[in-house]
Amino acid sequence: MYRLLILLFASQLITSCNSVEKQNESPSTAMTIKVSDHSYSNVDEINTTHLHLDIAVDFDKKELTGVVRHTMNNTGVHRAIFDVYGLSIQKITIGTDEKETTYTIGEESPTLGAPLIVDIEPTTTVVNIYYATTDASSALDWLAPELTLSKEHPFLYTQGQAILTRTWIPTQDIPSNRITYSADVQVPNGLIALMSAKNPTEKNDAGTYSFTMDQPIPCYLIAMAVGDIAYQKIGENTGVYSEPALLEEVADEFADLQKMVDAAESLYGEYLWETYDVIVLPYSFPFGGMENPRLTFATPTLITGDRSLVSVIAHELAHSWSGNLVTNATWNDFWLNEGFTVYFENRIMEKLYGKEVADMLSVIEWQELQATTSEMINNGQAHDTHLKLDLDDRNPDDGMTDIAYVKGAFFLKTLEAAAGRENFDTFLKSYFDTYKFQTLTTEDFISYLDKNLLNKFNIEFNTAEWIYEEGVPENHISISSPRFEAIQQYAKQLKENGTPIPNDITRENHITQEWLAFIRNFEGQLDPEKMRSIDEQLNLKGSGNAEIMSEWFVLGIHSGYLDIREDMEAFLKKVGRRKFLAPIYAALAKTEDNKSWALEIYEEARSNYHAVSSGTIDEILGYEE
Ligand code: BES
Ligand code: ZN
Repeated sequence: MYRLLILLFASQLITSCNSVEKQNESPSTAMTIKVSDHSYSNVDEINTTHLHLDIAVDFDKKELTGVVRHTMNNTGVHRAIFDVYGLSIQKITIGTDEKETTYTIGEESPTLGAPLIVDIEPTTTVVNIYYATTDASSALDWLAPELTLSKEHPFLYTQGQAILTRTWIPTQDIPSNRITYSADVQVPNGLIALMSAKNPTEKNDAGTYSFTMDQPIPCYLIAMAVGDIAYQKIGENTGVYSEPALLEEVADEFADLQKMVDAAESLYGEYLWETYDVIVLPYSFPFGGMENPRLTFATPTLITGDRSLVSVIAHELAHSWSGNLVTNATWNDFWLNEGFTVYFENRIMEKLYGKEVADMLSVIEWQELQATTSEMINNGQAHDTHLKLDLDDRNPDDGMTDIAYVKGAFFLKTLEAAAGRENFDTFLKSYFDTYKFQTLTTEDFISYLDKNLLNKFNIEFNTAEWIYEEGVPENHISISSPRFEAIQQYAKQLKENGTPIPNDITRENHITQEWLAFIRNFEGQLDPEKMRSIDEQLNLKGSGNAEIMSEWFVLGIHSGYLDIREDMEAFLKKVGRRKFLAPIYAALAKTEDNKSWALEIYEEARSNYHAVSSGTIDEILGYEE
């Protein structure tokens, strides 16, 4: 589907042609480059099937340089179009004999970057692009040693999803095209490189690392991390990586990793990626986790010492089926990745830790969905509450809301209730098997659902309402958590009658989600004196648990509770996870005083964040460099 037509004129679009002059084209020729699903690539005419990356990592210059060699399936066309953003293209050759060719780079759009149009022969199947990254390569987070735990070595990691792979590798950056890849990466002495591929577990003296990813993946899943990183095995095909000083704690926090893989396999079929490892990155990592195949990237805020945030790992593992094996064809179908994953994550949690824990997670998510849905509807963004999104002309990251995640998961939970768990599990298992290593649209899913579940069992279901209409349909299932009731009662009594929380209650004897439910019971406002008394007993502000701290800070900001300032400042300067930062900065931005305080902190903290987070916070604070 081509929605956006960009008319480019040859005279404007030749921004770089380096050594080879463009031939056979008069400057007045109008050239139309179509944008389809956030990509300029012409995958319908010619598409990459394998790419080989040969790059060197230079921490002094903060630059990757090298070549990407695309092996392509060519239907007989004269040009191959790639996506590029913030890259410096040096030279392009075609064929294994590397014949130099001409190319043009189109006008750059602030969200999509630019088309790289390479002139090829109808028989060309190999395109070699020599390039270097720049400061505008926003997938890359280059960390000075001070931002690591040891403070001794620099660190680099990439974030490709949704459309950032084009900022570090010239690619046809569209989720519907699957590729295998291989890589040779040269890093400085004493460091190791890891990728979303077959990985080393030890450093070598040469600093050269080779990788292969033999299963076809969409290119947003190509990922790399470079640093002083050590490995520890957990189970048969599972392990963890982190900076050496944190490794023991990581291994303890994720001790159940093998059990998680086993549980996931018992639910929805064989794990098809051979090994499953998790790397805990430095604090700037903008997400809780990212499902890079074979190697989940994770935030260190999960390392709480009490294993209370492992559901994030269950989530990223679940993506090994929903997302990585069966992939959304376009970013408008993002709920197929995330809604299925939240559903699957919850099933893994239930299997390992029981229904009580799984239900608490769901209730917390449901509360967030309610807040998001009403906020969107009140802000005139009701169309963004549809499961099937319309993100054309927008940044696909705008789709990363509770709608895709939680409305998606509740749609599946409601279907499960209608069909019965056994039937639904059989259906899901065959869905993953049928579409493995493929991509599909929402509409493909609907017809599969009709045929293999609804019609088969004669179930009447309001699928279209769930997918194409706003809000959450009336027939959604409801989940309650009796365990939340006790802690919510303490909150209620404290708020209404000033009754102190019983003395024997400590933070440790309730899990993270119970504290979130506790904080949410105050509905955004609490007398600062009461907040102080809670902190004296429970030390929520200094708890070290980022989930609890960020919610407590937001309540504190709205309530004018100033005692949080010191801990909040330290938090904002350390943690780069967008989910925590955005609500805190947004709450601070509401009053002039708080906003100027926030801006002072942001001025210092900004360079510690990944571009994904600073992009969002810039908007919240109206910050310009
Ligand atoms: N794939 C997402 C992260 C993502 C989505 C990155 C869209 C870029 C664009 C990942 O699996 C995710 O959902 N992470 C969540 C984890 C949570 C839902 C358990 C996060 O980071 O908060
Ligand atoms: Zn996810």
